[in-house]
Amino acid sequence: MCGIVGYIGRRDAYPIIIKGLQRLEYRGYDSAGIALYDGNDIKLSKTKGKVSDLKERLENEITTDGTLGIGHTRWATHGVPNDVNSHPHYSNSGDLVIIHNGIIENYDSLRKELINRGYTFKSDTDTEVLVNLIEDVKKNENVKLGKAVQIALNQVIGAYAIAVFDKNKPNEIVVARLGSPLAIGVGDDEFFIASDASPFIEFTKNAIYLEDEEMAIVRRGKTVKVRKIKNDDLVDPYIQELQLNLEQIEKGGYDHFMLKEIYEQPEAIQDTFRGRLLSNEAMVKLAGVEDNMKKFLAADRIIVVACGTSWHAGLVSEYIFEDLARIPVEVEYASEFRYRNPVITERDIIIAISQSGETADTLAAIKLAKSRGAFVFGVCNVVGSSIAREADAGAYTHAGPEIGVASTKAFTTQITVLTLMALRLARAKGTISSSEFRHHLIELETIPNKVEVALKSDAYVETIADIYKDATNFLYLGRGYNFPVALEGALKLKEISYIHAEGYPAAEMKHGPIALIDEQMPVVVIATKKGHYEKVVSNIQEIKSRKGKIIGIVTEGDVSVKELADHVIEVPETIECLTPLLTTIPLQLLSYHIAVMLDKNVDQPRNLAKSVTVE
Ligand code: AGP
Ligand code: GLU
Repeated sequence: MCGIVGYIGRRDAYPIIIKGLQRLEYRGYDSAGIALYDGNDIKLSKTKGKVSDLKERLENEITTDGTLGIGHTRWATHGVPNDVNSHPHYSNSGDLVIIHNGIIENYDSLRKELINRGYTFKSDTDTEVLVNLIEDVKKNENVKLGKAVQIALNQVIGAYAIAVFDKNKPNEIVVARLGSPLAIGVGDDEFFIASDASPFIEFTKNAIYLEDEEMAIVRRGKTVKVRKIKNDDLVDPYIQELQLNLEQIEKGGYDHFMLKEIYEQPEAIQDTFRGRLLSNEAMVKLAGVEDNMKKFLAADRIIVVACGTSWHAGLVSEYIFEDLARIPVEVEYASEFRYRNPVITERDIIIAISQSGETADTLAAIKLAKSRGAFVFGVCNVVGSSIAREADAGAYTHAGPEIGVASTKAFTTQITVLTLMALRLARAKGTISSSEFRHHLIELETIPNKVEVALKSDAYVETIADIYKDATNFLYLGRGYNFPVALEGALKLKEISYIHAEGYPAAEMKHGPIALIDEQMPVVVIATKKGHYEKVVSNIQEIKSRKGKIIGIVTEGDVSVKELADHVIEVPETIECLTPLLTTIPLQLLSYHIAVMLDKNVDQPRNLAKSVTVE
């Protein structure tokens, strides 16, 4: 995920683009860059860091004249954040320049083909492959830029929102989208291009939101032409009048980043398995695992180190790795592990899970493990972060920036990556049959849609939040795969509403916490059909007989829990190991609504930091 901005018209492009990038920094902020056409040539400046760093550098480096330009604020997916990998990217001839938001899945094979044809690459990005592919098509087919973009995009697998221009035709910018957002602001003899409308809201209220598989050519002083990328059909663009204010636009119309991120989960999970889950070929491709398969197969055990929500994702992975791949797993709080002289051997694999990739305890834990010869695999969201760099190998979650302090989409995408890893290893070890493996892949592929369905419970969850918002304690119970979800649900509530909450394995309740239950105590019980259902129903009976209030998270069509519980929230059915990806959703929503009703600062709860870089 990143932010893209473009301008073509009568005004100076630079101030519009730089301000627009600042507004889009919530989408990514590891590097930034601008390319301007000054009437003679392209002037390009880019840097690792924030838009403010770019501004400082650029004003010393280039002149900022020009009425056409494009700019980018990056959230790296391919290649660490550094100056070279920052966008915009030139084609080899230096004629074309591009900005891109998304992932080109087949960039590696395209890159090899282009290298065979004599192209060279400065960066590690998938984006530089795309701009050279466009150049190659343009030369070979002898077509204009628009046509070349169209032909090239038909060879691309993945997701993109792009803006590209040719210095020899500086009166047009070609844009296209598939899977990443792209809005065109339509002014008087001028056009604005952006990932959302925030960069141009003060200039025009008229916007065209490109649909997937559409491209457009915006020409100075002309009307915009929108076409289908696949078959060249012209599309009559719908120009809508924007009603939103700036803040609402940055939050995508949501009141808080946390809610936006909860709702982004279907897309984020899809992005996580993009290019990795190949159900037609019955394959999982994870370069970091593939390249180190020998080590994984020879491992005596996996030790997961993480903190907070990432530790909960680690606990879910313990079930998945042991269940599917039959590898023993230990899950450790990084802060404890680092100080307790743990027994680590060269045959141990450490999996470090971290959204930010900067958590001090997790970083220290992996340094310790490395010093004792263990192989470290990182599961991080932030590309090029300290943990990602310190690890021997890894897999990114590709969830896009998570701004809300309470982690939501990072959790579900971490579970997605870990599930892919477990499936790949299970296949390699032969601990899963090919039909079971295929079945798991097909089920995983349906998860984004099922998360979408789970999100539909939002309004109902809000009514439940209203009933229990004044409770002073909550209990969260789950078993098996859903025990860590209970912990995560309790953590979410504590973090943002400041209500005390405990997560417990449902059966463990009778060894202590049951003493807490009375008619005042809301108990959230995860009781999906797959996963010790009858046992959990018995646990619910135990709560019921002590007059606790039961909020059940159940599978669609459930009967037994419905009879016992005060409220039930349904989630779609799936195989047991994937249930956490669905049962988490209502728990995130419940904590969110309670915090809003209690008037708490949802995105920046007291005493917390997004990334804990101190001990
Ligand atoms: C989650 O909602 C928390 N804010 C926190 O527990 C977080 O998960 C933890 O600090 C770990 O962060 P990391 O994933 O960036 O390493
Ligand atoms: N894949 C591109 C890169 O890594 C774009 C990433 C983005 O959308 O942020 O540079």
